[in-house]
Amino acid sequence: IDNNNSYLYNFKGHYLQRQFAKIEILEAIEDFEIRDDDVFIITYPKSGTIWTQQILSLIYFEGHRNRTENITTALRAPFVEYNNHNLDHSKRPSPRFFTSHLQYNLVPKGLKNQKAKVLYVYRNPKDILVSFFYFTNWLAILEPSDTLDHFMEKFLDGKVEANCWFDHKRGWYEHRNDFNIMFMCYEDMKKNLRSSVLKICDFLAKSLSEEDLDSVVRQAEFQNMKCDPLANYKDIIKHKVGIRNDEGNFLHKGTIGDWKHHLTVAQNERFDRIFKRNMRDFPLKFIWDI
Ligand code: A3P
Repeated sequence: IDNNNSYLYNFKGHYLQRQFAKIEILEAIEDFEIRDDDVFIITYPKSGTIWTQQILSLIYFEGHRNRTENITTALRAPFVEYNNHNLDHSKRPSPRFFTSHLQYNLVPKGLKNQKAKVLYVYRNPKDILVSFFYFTNWLAILEPSDTLDHFMEKFLDGKVEANCWFDHKRGWYEHRNDFNIMFMCYEDMKKNLRSSVLKICDFLAKSLSEEDLDSVVRQAEFQNMKCDPLANYKDIIKHKVGIRNDEGNFLHKGTIGDWKHHLTVAQNERFDRIFKRNMRDFPLKFIWDI
């Protein structure tokens, strides 16, 4: 892992977006003060991060649910490793939500108090590969690739933000007992959003009325989020990040199994071989199609 890539910034072996990486923010993470009621959303990129931010915001904030407040989900659950809004986290009221793509060994040490909660959302890596490929070709701050083949090399080599997907999964899973953590799967959320929201509520010890639950589910559905300016991340593009074309979207397709329309037979076989080698005996199950 090197530090010469013009798009990626290497912090202790973890790749971040160079554009937004700041050494003083990164160095402060380890000793960052954790409160017992903090909740961390942890994901590998393209696994449903924005979606989970939206679900938590809807569950917790009445003003978000009934649309009387004008705070974006991005601000409700800001990234730990990027502080684009210059927030002073110590001044934020509880409960605080955070988001991160960091590997298990780089998150605040205090998270191991086993009280603060970690919600780890994972998705099948072939859909992630395709989603990530379009995403990196769309946002100007990310390194574009001419072909999916080219991107697949970088993905399998871990030369992308958050490094190698396999290591991220293994690292967090193998250290799960250090944290108060729940694993959720993107595809389960997609197949049954309502029961997934209930599962999250359970984990957070939060109960909602039927009516509020309906409202959370409705506003967390793909089509509704896609046109919701508080949830679709578009303001980030307006204010901060350039795009290379108009076709992209943070909420691109939001489906299961889109990889089937993109991977060639050879690419798919290669992926399967590498997946088997890296994920042998891995207990979490991945869902590859509907
Ligand atoms: P696609 O690119 O396959 O459409 P992240 O937020 O981690 O970057 O993940 C982005 C992926 O999550 C995108 O996948 C996006 O469409 C999908 N996503 C976001 N909100 C969703 C929702 N409400 N339902 C299903 N998928 C959603």
